[in-house]
Amino acid sequence: MRQKLLMAVFALLLFIPSGFAKEKREYFPKKDLTLVGAYYYPEHWDENQWERDLKKMSEMGFEFTHFGEFAWTQLEPEEGRYDFSWLDKAITLAAKYNLKVILCTSTATPPVWLTRAHPEILIKNENGTTVDHGARQHASFSSTFYRDYSKKMIAELGKRYGNDKRVMGWQLDNEPGVRQDYNKEALNRFRSFLKNKYDNTISALNKAWGTAFWSQVYTSFEQVTFPLPSNWGQNPHQLLDWKRFCAHESASFIDEQAEVLKKYVSPDQWITSNYIPDYTAGHFGQSQQLDFNTYTRYMVYGDPGIGELGFRIGDPMRIPFANDFTRPFDGVYGVMELQPGQVNWGTRNSMPYPGAVRLWLWSVFAGGSDLTCTYRFRQPLFGDEQFHHGIIGTDGVTPSRGGLEFQTFIQEIAQLRKEYNPKATLPTDYLERKTAILYTHENVWSLEKRKLNDSWSTENHIQKYYKALKSFGAPVDIIYEGKDFTQYPVLIAPAYEMVDDSLITAWTNYVKQGGHLILTVRSGLKDRMSQLYELPMAGKIAPLIGAAYDFHDFMPANESGHIEMEGQKYAWSIWGEGLIPEQGTEVWAKHVDQFYKGSPAITHRKLGKGTVTYVGIDSQDGKLEADVLKRIYAQNSTPVMNLPEGVWMEYRDGFGIAVNYSSKNYAFPLPAKATVLIGTQTIEPAGVLVWKNNGEK
Ligand code: GAL
Repeated sequence: MRQKLLMAVFALLLFIPSGFAKEKREYFPKKDLTLVGAYYYPEHWDENQWERDLKKMSEMGFEFTHFGEFAWTQLEPEEGRYDFSWLDKAITLAAKYNLKVILCTSTATPPVWLTRAHPEILIKNENGTTVDHGARQHASFSSTFYRDYSKKMIAELGKRYGNDKRVMGWQLDNEPGVRQDYNKEALNRFRSFLKNKYDNTISALNKAWGTAFWSQVYTSFEQVTFPLPSNWGQNPHQLLDWKRFCAHESASFIDEQAEVLKKYVSPDQWITSNYIPDYTAGHFGQSQQLDFNTYTRYMVYGDPGIGELGFRIGDPMRIPFANDFTRPFDGVYGVMELQPGQVNWGTRNSMPYPGAVRLWLWSVFAGGSDLTCTYRFRQPLFGDEQFHHGIIGTDGVTPSRGGLEFQTFIQEIAQLRKEYNPKATLPTDYLERKTAILYTHENVWSLEKRKLNDSWSTENHIQKYYKALKSFGAPVDIIYEGKDFTQYPVLIAPAYEMVDDSLITAWTNYVKQGGHLILTVRSGLKDRMSQLYELPMAGKIAPLIGAAYDFHDFMPANESGHIEMEGQKYAWSIWGEGLIPEQGTEVWAKHVDQFYKGSPAITHRKLGKGTVTYVGIDSQDGKLEADVLKRIYAQNSTPVMNLPEGVWMEYRDGFGIAVNYSSKNYAFPLPAKATVLIGTQTIEPAGVLVWKNNGEK
């Protein structure tokens, strides 16, 4: 009887739709932890070398390869004549050596027969020049003809390989970007976008764009043009809509590609694209038809990093921020290109420090990723990427230093797979620290258009909070609006300039239910068209923060103002506000100099079961931001770590991973019952420590 009941329950479960997240997770079984692959270009090499190369790739431990993102010419040598014979052969060889294949749509590189017959598909610059064949990414996403043409090729690929078990997934385009195209067709599409948005009513556009200012009033959509960068004093509202349009052109082209593929491909094959983590362009993460997103990441190319080894190790926040931005969209994510060694396009292409390539691999893994692929297997002998390292050097057979580090990582993952325990939990203190940063690229557009202080950088402001969180050992999700805030004990909305009533209601409900909300400088001033509210400044958020906005001020670049919190002084110069707290609102910090000495600069209040903190200062070195956060976690009795700059840690799947991007050794405070699996407690520069979390704090 009991068995029958169990079987009935089981049968029922089989029929319950498994839900989106679960379907995505099924692409990458947890027990595999992560897959590692490498780009290979059959079209670059003598056919008689393909087998040798793919065999070598497999012997080094790679589990998948990646073909064809720039191969339109080879796939369709003449209009309508497709040639898949070479790709068939390459896929067969990959499968022979147990390498799964990622196939791509090669829309980043239209063939010359197409651009010569239809030059109107080429992107036009503001000055009227046109980009041309001979490089890549020269076709406009705003060309309807180009879109249609691409879709024909994509359908053929889908028909041919959509049910091929050797193909695990698809990458659409290559690093699809947001480009400004000044062609007539782009203008027509911009006008249609606006007509659609403003319900074909020009007065609505005039109102949203504030065209009464400077006599800009339009009487028809046909008069509207691009906000030309060379125009002095661009209309900020027009600029905002244009940026929305350009981002939409990229996101919608990728969606259209996915829709075509979905007609032909089996549900076992996933669809993604590989984004440069440009958080401000507005397209990354915004295509709705992708199963998940991947990003591309290069670490050593001329940036200083930190300490004397920093230029060889890379900026410690580059990978974790990209992880924490990409993962929250779908849960599943990966890195499609990870630097394998020296690159050729940086300002100074130094050698990565020994261990740095492996460090980056572990850094990607630490964020919870499901796959990492490297660009590329073999170093190219010709083309614009000469001197760009691969896993294998110019002779085609000798692994590079970075190649060997990939191999080490792959072996370490094999070791970790044996230790994987599906029942392992994450430490409670780690989970208690879970924090979200609320983000939208639209705020960045609005803020950067009118910085008010040319030293203002929205990115640097956000990074001050992010870095503090990483030094606490806090798991962070960077989220867009629409996510359930209640899963995060702490929610930070830095410089959130554009708000509306529904967002304020969502924030208020979050706090009333026990959330701890932190709003910072420049927040709540404008509506979603970047117009100031007809209220006292920041009047929209005053009831929520329990304080009114009094003023904002800036110091000259070489001078500082100071505030004091709990007996400590903090310097600021880029942005400082004064606040007028309501009764019941605590003052956490006050200005201690300038003519407004004594004015509150940071306030804190209780609301329902939670709290709202308003930080009216952008500090010089980020210490203030860290101390404000510490005070909030301390109030909640949430323990935080105190990791030095360059060291951060995460947990995933029962494993703890700590990495050291600094130039000094660091003795990591391991939890009491941790079992070290990889590395030593003292982590060297570019070193990694991996341990098994035994469930305790
Ligand atoms: C990436 C690009 C690759 C390759 C690589 C070189 O941005 O997607 O195709 O050009 O850079 O580092």
